[in-house]
Formats: sequence, structure tokens, C-alpha cells
Amino acid sequence: MCGIVGYVGDKSVCEVLTGGLSALEYRGYDSSGVAVIADNETKIYKAEGKLQNLKDLLAEKQNEVKTARVGIGHIRWATHGIPNEINAHPHTNNDGKLAVVHNGIIENYKELRAKLEQQGAIFHSETDTETVAHLVSQKYNETHDLKEAVRLATKELEGAYALCIIHKDVKDTIIATRRNAPLLIGLGEGENFAASDVPAIIEHTKRAIYLDDNEIAVLTPNSVDVYDSDNNKINPKVELLPWEPITLSKMGYKHFMLKEIHEQPDVIRNFLSGKLHTADSKAILNEVKLDKESLKNLNRIQVVACGTSLHAAIVGKYIIEELCNIPVDVEASSEYIYRTTVTDEHTLVIGVSQSGETADTLTAVKQSKARGSHILIITNRPDSAMAREADSLIPVDAGIEVSVAATKSYVAQLMAFYMLAIHLAEIKGSADENYLKEIKNELLVLPQKIELLLTKKEKIQKCSRMYSSSKNFIFIARGINFATALEGALKLKEISYINATGYPAGELKHGPIAMLDETLPVLSIMMTGKVYEKILSNAQESKARNARMIALTDSTDEKLEDLFDYVLNVPHVHELISPMMAIVPLQLLAYYIAEFLGKDVDQPRNLAKSVTVE
Ligand code: G6P
Repeated sequence: MCGIVGYVGDKSVCEVLTGGLSALEYRGYDSSGVAVIADNETKIYKAEGKLQNLKDLLAEKQNEVKTARVGIGHIRWATHGIPNEINAHPHTNNDGKLAVVHNGIIENYKELRAKLEQQGAIFHSETDTETVAHLVSQKYNETHDLKEAVRLATKELEGAYALCIIHKDVKDTIIATRRNAPLLIGLGEGENFAASDVPAIIEHTKRAIYLDDNEIAVLTPNSVDVYDSDNNKINPKVELLPWEPITLSKMGYKHFMLKEIHEQPDVIRNFLSGKLHTADSKAILNEVKLDKESLKNLNRIQVVACGTSLHAAIVGKYIIEELCNIPVDVEASSEYIYRTTVTDEHTLVIGVSQSGETADTLTAVKQSKARGSHILIITNRPDSAMAREADSLIPVDAGIEVSVAATKSYVAQLMAFYMLAIHLAEIKGSADENYLKEIKNELLVLPQKIELLLTKKEKIQKCSRMYSSSKNFIFIARGINFATALEGALKLKEISYINATGYPAGELKHGPIAMLDETLPVLSIMMTGKVYEKILSNAQESKARNARMIALTDSTDEKLEDLFDYVLNVPHVHELISPMMAIVPLQLLAYYIAEFLGKDVDQPRNLAKSVTVE
């Protein structure tokens, strides 16, 4: 994570840099900084906390930076060292002439630091990045060539990095390079840019070069030269970015999260358009590039994902196993990549990721690809690193999700699984046609039902106020909504910092029941269907232990009012589709609790939207 920006040109350098960093805040926001070369001096400005603090500082110092034509900026999500001003980037060398910003982790930084210290380097921060500043500086003193210094230094680095480096003695120049961390070069007229991601530069240019691992770019106002790691100049592909500059607006909502929750009906409609016309028509999923025979013969699917995407994958498992009769394994990418797995060329591997950048999932996908598996990526960013690994790519088209807590991208990912499963089932003939028709019909009418729910938020708001002082929460569910319990609990943890656990309801009696007393809310997700009666019994067990009882249900059974202290009703939906409906009140519950507690809903502490470190 962390976001980096570089700019060389005639515009106000600090404005371009902080504008770019604003667009990268989803990558971290615990501190930030810029370095510029102005008045023949390398000047560094840093601030702890939100980007606004840096903007305020730069506004005070505008006279000091106004002659700058080159600069680099950074927004941090701390890995090595607490988020304070000292550990904030840019970092510099002993004479303070060189400045570096970095995204990634230098894994051998301890050894490098010890060696550099012996050789006279003076370190100020606890970061891994500062070693890069000293190492490049050392190589520069030997070669007097900044690009060569970066090339030699990066050969000694282990781990992941995207780097931008400037030096007072190298006029109007940025050296940019990367390995296993994103970095693109934006091409302008009389100006050039480097950035971790498109939104940071799209306001200025639509032409860009995506650097490959180990490539080094030399940017001046009028030139961009790219070299491979052996110093051969190469002709990189210039891409036209399929993006329009957009002003992200809350559209009158108090937070992006609330706006994004309300966008979910349209996200579903958008996903369905072109893919499912009526309940009688077949699902169209041309994105899946496996031929019919291979799809029919698929005997195993492995899904890898993290966080909310992992929960979408668990729902996906239930859907595919129900409709397609293919075994599906789901695993957190971070676990999958460090054990012996049996994934091979006979397995379809699905990577699910909102950002398409999550390091663990990217590694999992690369590992499986190397073993010959067909790679299907479900992502909200069809221009991402993961998308570039895909044999088949399903873009979920949820639109930019600003709030760190994922909402609309989750329902979009679920839609991808529904359509994939229906498509597979239709090819394999593995599900009863009438059953499939019923499911398709339910999906088509789902947006209106969610809209109806969103017009009745008062009861959820009231519930949030009643339970906002709770220190702990348990969410229980069975079957396909087990993942809804996990996701509901995750939302609450992420934005309100209340300890919440999602549990399979049948497992409650095997341990967690010991925690129940009159202070603990147990929220039972009771969508009508196969497991409704079972979870009702589990809820009774909680009631008998005096827990505070909340139900989330599409049942109209009035007796529930006797068993539960609070009942959150949602419109009735088919059980297989119910995770799409049940998650919405849980997103709102988390939102209203966090809002009531005065938390920073869109940018919760310690989190980042895109996690590019393992
Ligand atoms: C971070 C975000 C989560 C997200 C997870 C996986 O932890 O804060 O909201 O679910 O990464 O991200 P991905 O982009 O791969 O879906």
C-alpha cells in the first residue's frame, strides 16, 4: 500500500503532488510528505495524520516551494515504524540532497541498514525505505549517474518496491522503478508524471506507460526514457487510459459509504444488463474464455481472495456447488500461498479482488498460473495487475468505491458468482431448468426489493443507537448466509472498532455460548429456507442464556417478536439469493453505529483500501 506520485514540469509542483495524493488516499492515510527541488536545495515537508495536514503545511510554505519544477510525494500506510513525521516519506541521505518515496517492503532492509551504518550512513527513521536513500546515495557517489545508481542499488534490494527518486544535482529529473508494486508513468506535453495508480494523474493526461518489473524510467519535462535492468533502452508500449477524470462526490450523502450502499440496486442492474435479459433467456458470459468441453469437464474450482472479497468467494462456493455440482475450495490468499497446494492444470482458479492489486491474492494467482491452471479474475479494476494475469476476466463494474469498507463491490462480486454459476449450470445441464428460471427471476427483481429496503432505514438506525454501546457482537447464520455473518461482523469491526464475530450458528454451542450474557447482542440471520428452523433453535439457545436478541429476517412470523428484542425485516427473497439482501441491513447497521459513535466512517483507523504488501 502507500501511494506515490512524481511530477516534473511547469505547473505548481506541490499542487500536482497533493492533488495526486488525494486520489491515492485509498492506499493509506496515516501520514504524508513531499520533496521538491527549489532554490537549488532539496526541501522535504511531512505531516503526521491526514493529507489535509500536509496541504495546510504546504500552504504556509508556498514561498519556499514556488520555484520548484520537480517533486515527489507519498501517502503512507505504516509497515515499518509508527505513523509519525519522522517515519513519513520522503526519506533522504546524509547530505540531504537525495529524496526517495517508496511503496512496498524491502525485506532485507535490516542487513542493508547494518552495512550502510558501518559505512557511515546516519539513519533517522525506523523505515525500510531509508536504506534505499542511503544505498542509492552511495552508488551515486561512486558513479555520478543517478539512473545507474538506482539500477545498481535495486539489484541489492529484496522484496517489493515502487520508487521515485530525485537529487538536487540532477536537474529536473525523476528516476522511477518498480518490482512487484504498481507504478505507471503519465506522459504530458512539457511535463511528465509517475504514480501508483491512474486516478492520481488522469486529470493531467490519458497517455501512460505501465512499467514492468525491474524497468527504470528517467523522466524530465520533455522526455521519458525507459531501460531494462541491464541498462538497455527499450521502447515501452504507450497506453491510452480508458478513464475520464471524475470528481468524486458524496451526492448529498454524509459519507461515501452511505452513498455506495445506496448505489447497490444500480450496480446489480448494471451487472445484469447484457448478461441476463429475462428469466427465460440464457445467461451470457462471454468473459469466460474456457471452451464448452473444458467447462463441462471441470472437476474442481479453487477460489482465492482476502477480506470482503473472501466472503464473496464463500457465498460463491455455495452457489456453484448448489447449481453446478462442482467442488469449490475457498481459501484466504495469505494462507494459500505458503503451503503445498494441489492446484494444477485441471483446476479453475478464481481470484476475487475489488482492487485487483492485493498482494497475497496476486501472488496466489501467479502461483496457480505457473502450475497451469486457467485463471479467472473477478475484479472492479479491469486495468489492474491481477487483471493482467487473467485468462478470463469478469469486470464487476461497480464504479469507483471510495469508502475503505467495501459494500457495492461486494454485491457486484456476488453477482459475478451468480452469473458464473448459472452460465456453468446451463452448459453442464446440472440444474433443473425451472429452478434456474426461478433464480434468474429473483435476480432480475432484486434491485427493486433492495430499493424498498433502503426506503425503510429508520428501524435499522434505531437498532444501531440501541446497541452502539455494546463492546462485543456475535452474528450467527447457517448455510449460504454464514458468509453474510462474517461480512456483517467485518463491517462492524472495520468502521466502529467494536469486536464482532461471525459464527456458523450450529457451532455456537461448541464454545462461544460460554460468552453469552445479558450484555452480549447475538444477531441471528434468519432468511427463510432450508436452515430457517435450525437457526431458530440456535437463537432459542442464546435466549436461554439471556443474550440480547436481534433477528434479521424475511419471515413474517409474528412469533419472532416474542423471541427477539429487535427484529429487522427485509423483503422476502429466494434463499440462494438471500445473501444479496441480508447484507444490506448489516452494512447499514455498521454504518449507523460508527456514525453514532463519531468514527471516521470512510477512512477507518489502521486500514487501507488497497493492500499491496503480503
Ligand atoms: C483491504 C480492504 C478490504 C478488502 C481487502 C481485500 O483489507 O480494506 O475492504 O476487502 O483489502 O481487497 P481486494 O481489493 O483484494 O478486494
